[in-house]
Amino acid sequence: MTVKLHFFVAFLTFSTYYLTEVYSLVEFTNVQCESVDKDYTLFPYCYLKSVNRSYKYVSVKAKLLQLPVAKAKVRLALYKRLNGYKPFLYDMTIDACRFLKYPKSNPVALYFYNCFKEYSNLNHTCPFEHDIVLDKMSYHSINNKLTKVLPFPEGNYMFEMHWMAYDINRAITKFYFSLS
Ligand SMILES: *[C@@H]1O[C@H](CO)[C@@H](O)[C@H](O)[C@H]1NC(C)=O
Ligand SMILES: *[C@@H]1O[C@H](CO)[C@@H](O)[C@H](O)[C@H]1NC(C)=O
Repeated sequence: MTVKLHFFVAFLTFSTYYLTEVYSLVEFTNVQCESVDKDYTLFPYCYLKSVNRSYKYVSVKAKLLQLPVAKAKVRLALYKRLNGYKPFLYDMTIDACRFLKYPKSNPVALYFYNCFKEYSNLNHTCPFEHDIVLDKMSYHSINNKLTKVLPFPEGNYMFEMHWMAYDINRAITKFYFSLS
């Protein structure tokens, strides 16, 4: 009986997730970039553009003023809006150089990275000897990736990244999106 009940609960959970997955839609609502250390990073641009109702994209350029960067960490944290943004599921700091060398070593980071990778020149390991660009990242590709792998509940989210070089926080980027 207990086993049956557990099975039923598991089945219900699965169906709910499955439906969430099928009907979710990701939409960017805002993007913000902040240079914490202006001698280290500047953002010539950081914006969300709405081309029309179904096509929006995010473009960001981070100018690195002290090259090369051979030691970098990124703190990834996801927030969900309730009364203000509250931590949700993920908050981790990763060694970016090691991760870019061995992406499979961190499946969760890899999953977030895959959303950005194809739009970015952050596609090789350290050192970094150039500016970092995210070019016209649209949510169409993310729609599939995000909802297929990790079905989240509907709502408003913020994905915050703290960029650290040589263990000092240099910049913060925040991506806001809604799931419906
Ligand atoms: C929105 O803009 C994109 C890019 O210019 C275009 O391919 C698409 O057809 C447009 N969609 C609508 C509904 O106008
Ligand atoms: C990385 O991205 C840049 C710019 O989009 C591209 O020119 C380059 O070929 C890419 N390198 C790799 C290893 O994918």
